[in-house]
Amino acid sequence: MVTSSAPGKVYLFGEHAVVFGEPAVPCAIERRARVSVSARDDDHIRVQAHDLSLDGFTVEYTGSTVERPNIDVSPDLVEAAMGYIEEAVEQARDAASEPTRGFDIDVESDIPLGAGLGSSAAVVVAVIDAATRELGVSLPRMELAERAYQAESQVQHGEASRADTFCSTMGGAVRVEEKDTHQLGTPNLPLVIGFDGGAGDTAELVAAVRSMRDRFQFAAETIQTIGDVVRQGEQMLGQTSSDTAYEQAKLSEIGELMNFNHGLLSALGVSTRSLDAMVWAAREAGAYGAKLTGAGGGGCIVAVDPTAETQRALEYTAACIETFSAELDDDGVRVEES
Ligand code: MEV
Repeated sequence: MVTSSAPGKVYLFGEHAVVFGEPAVPCAIERRARVSVSARDDDHIRVQAHDLSLDGFTVEYTGSTVERPNIDVSPDLVEAAMGYIEEAVEQARDAASEPTRGFDIDVESDIPLGAGLGSSAAVVVAVIDAATRELGVSLPRMELAERAYQAESQVQHGEASRADTFCSTMGGAVRVEEKDTHQLGTPNLPLVIGFDGGAGDTAELVAAVRSMRDRFQFAAETIQTIGDVVRQGEQMLGQTSSDTAYEQAKLSEIGELMNFNHGLLSALGVSTRSLDAMVWAAREAGAYGAKLTGAGGGGCIVAVDPTAETQRALEYTAACIETFSAELDDDGVRVEES
């Protein structure tokens, strides 16, 4: 048996636009999916997932990928999660040249499903890593990231970027623009997350944005403007100073750009009332900035606030069921046990 883990992530800037060729900057956080894989003697795949939870959000299922699992969250969401695992298995089989190999897969994750924190990417990366190692193959990280992207892309009907999977493989903050992917190190950012208990269907949300972009020139321009926000934001991220006033000014500009980015995502129709409520609670509490993270349609927001005020405000916000400060994780995928 091999156990691998991979981190979830937040988007500082650029989700959705990255699917249409603009750059994005996601950042890995210390919330992980851990996947244990044992090779079987037959060609069956058996998946057990437990503790896919963030207080109050739990999915428990067990069974083969043919039988439908017992669940306590939306069947669609679990169906999607199973789809990611199946595609990851196909990638692992292909990489190890064992096209019919069966596996027992055990997923344990503290990243809520479909909530914008990159649960599917983390699971896909960890499954491919653990399954290939179980078959005696150790993939270079770039190949692992590319295979994880291919798996996500299959599930999202070709509408996926490399951002989530590259970030989860490499850790830290990364920049992704089409096939151009690189690491940006680990910026010192005081991030606070708010979770509304909901989830969005990434494939559906990306398709809705595409439809709007195809129908309206101003939607296409909104996507390009998100790209401009990312280009401005990455310049700020790259600059560091020991001067406190300078660092404050930097956080202030990054926050302002996150606010702008949220407005543009709202215009594209991917925010929701509860995401907006959490964003405004954070801003009113004095956060430098706040935005939804990931595909939207429910899930999480990310705010920048070095004080405890945003977290406190989110605790008292009806729309928010969980809030925590997110430590950045400069470690990407890693082997936990083999
Ligand atoms: C989802 O976490 C991020 C999106 O940009 C889709 C993708 O990049 O594949 C909405």
